[in-house]
Amino acid sequence: MKILTVVGARPQFIKASVVSRALAPVADEVIVHTGQHYDRNMSDVFFEELNIPKPAYNLGVGSGSHGRQTGEMLIKIEEVILDEKPDVMLVYGDTNSTLAGALAASKLHIPVAHVEAGLRSFNMRMPEEQNRVLTDHISTWLFCPTETAVKNLNKENITRGVDRSGDVMLDSVLHFLKLARSNPQKTAIYGQLGIAPKQYRLATLHRAETTDGGLDAIVRIFDAFEKLPQPVVIPIHPRTRPLAEEAIAKRGYRNILLTDPVGYLEMLLLTSGACQVLTDSGGLQKEAWFMEVPCVTLRGETEWVETLEGGWNVLAKLETDDITRKATQTVPDAGARERMPFGDGRASERIASILSKWEA
Ligand code: UD1
Ligand code: UDP
Repeated sequence: MKILTVVGARPQFIKASVVSRALAPVADEVIVHTGQHYDRNMSDVFFEELNIPKPAYNLGVGSGSHGRQTGEMLIKIEEVILDEKPDVMLVYGDTNSTLAGALAASKLHIPVAHVEAGLRSFNMRMPEEQNRVLTDHISTWLFCPTETAVKNLNKENITRGVDRSGDVMLDSVLHFLKLARSNPQKTAIYGQLGIAPKQYRLATLHRAETTDGGLDAIVRIFDAFEKLPQPVVIPIHPRTRPLAEEAIAKRGYRNILLTDPVGYLEMLLLTSGACQVLTDSGGLQKEAWFMEVPCVTLRGETEWVETLEGGWNVLAKLETDDITRKATQTVPDAGARERMPFGDGRASERIASILSKWEA
């Protein structure tokens, strides 16, 4: 069986790292990198560190408006499909690379496997919500991380091909956190940043909803970070960097430690060592939950509703007072963690096993 996998953005490299390893014994996998993320610390570092097979194609699409970026991917992925003639198209998550891969394949009658299917924020203004809804409706295999995701699909009358596989990001954390902790080159990150475990908070910001608010929104968020009793480390996404630098230059924040994006192993160490995570990221909310680190999600809603149980994750509006209050006054309930809604850490093997039973 030949699988064509389309990835393009940071979280997809991480998810592919565990699934590709599981697929290796059962399939011939050809990886296509759309080029959506292209900075070294947003792309190459993951392939090197996580031992992901080198992409056979890099389409070099780069940044652009949604239509232009998705459209260019569509044109180029179609060419690759026609050359490679895969049996299955494999896509991850909810980025423009996900939709382009799924749509190009579906139009050529190549069945689509969607990892992280069924997630919904019910906010159709989010580009990610549009991508995931459209991708799910043209997928043959829908690999769901949680029971909630299965239910979301059922409500949209999608029942065939739906599997509650568990979350491949849990597989990934279980595998890579051990490696990170035993690697002195990686654990050096605490010393390099001048922070001590549990004496700092970790934040990331990159969502369109956050950056679309311009400097005002970033200032409201940073004003809250400035009031927190521990320093806030922010490995800054390139989308947000200009606004973050402008805010710091204007307001002279002293409690914010801006740094370049870090590799995944260092990020796992920074997350597990933080006393709290503040983020608009989807993946990081869950990683915080997996590592029992309380999280404040800087968004109006979350797809990962299971993390909200017992206050391990709380939503905060992009307002200084709300963020400060949620960050300082929420005490998570240890008893709320008995249920493990994200699977058993073997989602990748399950996905590989199901795909290996494919028949034309
Ligand atoms: C994308 C995904 C988002 C995902 C995120 C993961 C879409 C619509 N959004 O958002 O769902 O959570 O990836 O990180 O697909 N840039 C660089 N260098 C890079 C990459 C981006 O400088 O290597 C800058 C460019 O100015 C670019 C901007 O970041 O315009 C946004 O990049 P883009 O890939 O369009 O969206 P993300 O915010 O990364
Ligand atoms: N991440 C990383 N380095 C960073 C910031 C994030 O390796 O500097 C990892 C993070 O641990 C998680 C993933 O990137 O596994 C999340 O990606 P992102 O927040 O960009 O996207 P989302 O999950 O919101 O789609």
